[in-house]
This record gives sequence, C-alpha cells and structure tokens, in this order.
Amino acid sequence: MNDDGDDEQSDTEELRSFGRRHGRPMSARQAKLWATVLPRVAIDLKSATPAGTAALFTSSVSEIWLEIGFGGGEHLIWQALHNPHVGHIGCEPFRDGVIKVLDAIDTRAIANIRVHADDARDVLRWLPEGSITRAFVLFPDPWPKRKHLKRRLVNPTLLAALARVLRLGGQLRLGTDIGDYARTMLMAAQHETRLHWQAETANDWRKRPLDWPQTRYEAKAVREGRNSCYLQFERI
Ligand SMILES: C[S@@+](CC[C@H](N)C(=O)[O-])C[C@H]1O[C@@H](n2cnc3c(N)ncnc32)[C@H](O)[C@@H]1O
Repeated sequence: MNDDGDDEQSDTEELRSFGRRHGRPMSARQAKLWATVLPRVAIDLKSATPAGTAALFTSSVSEIWLEIGFGGGEHLIWQALHNPHVGHIGCEPFRDGVIKVLDAIDTRAIANIRVHADDARDVLRWLPEGSITRAFVLFPDPWPKRKHLKRRLVNPTLLAALARVLRLGGQLRLGTDIGDYARTMLMAAQHETRLHWQAETANDWRKRPLDWPQTRYEAKAVREGRNSCYLQFERI
C-alpha cells in the first residue's frame, strides 16, 4: 500500500485503517528490543483465549483495558504506571511506536502491558465477550480525503466489536481533533444501542478528563490551533 492508502484490497476484505508500518531502519538497540522484549509481551492470537483474561499478565491484575492505535505509547504507558492493578493491552501496527513501548517496558520494568503489533481488530475478534472494562481509541488516523472516508477505523462495525468485548458498566473513550471525525464517531455510536454517550454538558466532551493524559497527536493539534473532542461512552 502507498501512504495515500490506495492498495489493492477488495471491497469484501476489511479495509486497512493505518498508513505506513515502518519508519527508519531499526538501530541495534531497537532491533534487540524487538527480538527480545516483543516475544515476551506479544499476545499469541493463535492460542486459545485464556478463560480468565487476567491470566495474560504475569503481575496480578483485576481488570483489563484495551488501547487501539497507541502511536508513541504516551497514554498507554501513563495508564499502565498509574493503574498497576489493571492489565493493559495495546495494539499498534506502526513499528516505531511499538518500539517506544517496548523500551518503556524494558527500562521501567513495566509488567502490566501486553502488545499486539498489528491490527487491533484481530484482538477484538479473539477477546471473549465482556472481558474488557475500558477501551481507548485516541486520535485515530483522520483519512480526510472523501475517497478514503471508508478507511476510518471508528465505524459501526468497530463499535459493535467493542461493545461485545466491553463488560456491562465498562467505558469506551474516543478522542479526535477533527470535527468531522467526531461526527463520524457520534453517528456510529447512534447505531450501537449498547453504548451510551455520557456527556451531559458541553464541558463533558470539550475538556480532557484528568485521568486522560495528552497524546502526541493531541499535542500536535494544540500546536496547530485545533481543539479536541473527548467522547466517553458507557457500556449498557
Ligand atoms: C493518528 S495516530 C494517533 C496515535 C496516538 N493514539 C496519539 O493520539 O498520539 C493513529 C494510530 O492508529 C494506528 N492504527 C490505525 N489503524 C489501526 C488498527 N486497525 N489497529 C491498531 N492501530 C491502528 C496507526 O498506526 C496510528 O499509529
């Protein structure tokens, strides 16, 4: 696929929602992290899902959160450090981002992160129903061109998959700095009766909650003068 998102996928296949997977060639240290840390923390989707998903983690965890498209991992690492009782599954196909998280896992001895270095939709199909208490999709690729809108990751199919894996009372957080994508997200959520948008006042979606650290893409939006939307849904 080229960076423009034009590939030869047929309409019946799941459309690719991400751009490039590789940046610069890996340094020796990065290659070592990839070869030694990733196999230790990667989720094996060929294995049967463990009866209790908490068994995926070596540290003792009481619930599982899922982050889709963690980019440079700022939010994932922050949440893992601030919520040691939670097992965090992060999904990201962009190798440079995965390496940043592997580096943090290695240097900061983080035991409560598992990684899928590929498409999160594979993990969603693999996870048992009701196994997740929080899910995050933060600043997904905007795919602004009209012909690429169908590549937007957040759509009714993704929300249905998230509603399946979220436990009753669990929470889904979606963030975007693109007004038109916020509309896409809310329209998709209207189709999904198992997700209830929790906003009661404008500040509920205009202000980032204190336990939602800023990501690299949000920081870029701030620098470029764009406001962001912080959408929170309860699984009902
Ligand atoms: C615009 S970046 C935002 C990264 C990060 N969440 C942030 O806010 O800084 C979107 C990320 O989503 C990832 N992504 C896109 N489609 C994905 C998918 N199907 N599964 C997992 N990650 C995906 C991309 O590789 C990219 O790193």
